[in-house]
Amino acid sequence: MKIVLLHTADALEPPVDPVLDQLTGALRSLDHEVGRVTVDRELEPVVTALRHEAPDLVFNIAESFRGKSALESNVAALLNLMDLRYTGSSPAGLLLAGDKTLTKQILRFHGILTPEFATLYRGAVDWAGDLDFPVIVKPPQEDASLGITSASVVHEIKELFGRIDALQTEYQQPVLVEQFIEGREFYVGVLGNLNAEALPVIELDFTGFPPDRPRIASWEAKWGEDGSGSGAEYAGTRSIFPTDLDDELAGRMQRVAVEAFEALRLRDYARIDLRVTASGEIYVIEVNPNCYLERESEFARAARQGGTEYEALISRIVDLASARYAR
Ligand SMILES: Nc1ncnc2c1ncn2[C@@H]1O[C@H](COP(=O)(O)OP(=O)(O)O)[C@@H](O)[C@H]1O
Ligand SMILES: [Mg+2]
Repeated sequence: MKIVLLHTADALEPPVDPVLDQLTGALRSLDHEVGRVTVDRELEPVVTALRHEAPDLVFNIAESFRGKSALESNVAALLNLMDLRYTGSSPAGLLLAGDKTLTKQILRFHGILTPEFATLYRGAVDWAGDLDFPVIVKPPQEDASLGITSASVVHEIKELFGRIDALQTEYQQPVLVEQFIEGREFYVGVLGNLNAEALPVIELDFTGFPPDRPRIASWEAKWGEDGSGSGAEYAGTRSIFPTDLDDELAGRMQRVAVEAFEALRLRDYARIDLRVTASGEIYVIEVNPNCYLERESEFARAARQGGTEYEALISRIVDLASARYAR
């Protein structure tokens, strides 16, 4: 097939995101012809390039438009309007999972556990559940821990108001206040459509964390205090395959992940982030339909752990997407 890799312009900013060459390499090793189209600030160049390439399939890893992750679903919508076939979730799935508040509302309807929450819109209360401190305050439409720092975990009213105020000024979005779930954090990849299957469970290891910081995958924890991914003492929080998990709990986590995937109408692949309390309650924290597909990403490592090497994983995603369009 002729496949176009559709990605956002920031992937090309030095250091160039290695996922571009890795996906290209994997697709070529599967005998596909591979082109690339960049999504940046203007619509016309994307339309023109896609028309010119006329691919059989678009491998869509575009995460934003004009730098806005809230516009991510519109990129997939454009592919629909252009009648192009593409990998990954539909605009509906990207929209539902891309908004943490909507995600929680849908999960609740399906009886899937997610932390208790309250939402604010322009200072007005939209919904207020039964919350106790500590809580975590987030911008509901951002990703990659933008807007989530140690200061996001708050323990009293004054801090809470200060945090809400700071977020509303910076992001001009609704604010999501969530019950802070003490416990271990796990990522579960899901692959498939009608028979979606969960990959082996991966754990975020916080043992290297400074004891005075809340144990969360904050922006500093993911990228380092200066954003470079190095330097800070707890940069690059490790993810590991836990060896002490009992099968029953791992199995339940995998079932919850597949249920969340189906509830949000996701397609092909996604990564579901969970927190598990000491008593074994599994909370869905977040759902990532356009999760990072880099060779050493949690998703790709989990696939490998389950016996699916990188090329086979990419091939599977292509097959899942192609099957959707088979007539
Ligand atoms: N309700 C919560 N309880 C405990 N920790 C949380 C909660 N929500 C988020 N976190 C922590 O913050 C991190 C980032 O939050 P998340 O909602 O996944 O945002 P992002 O889209 O930025 O990844 C999580 O990986 C987790 O460590
Ligand atoms: Mg997350």
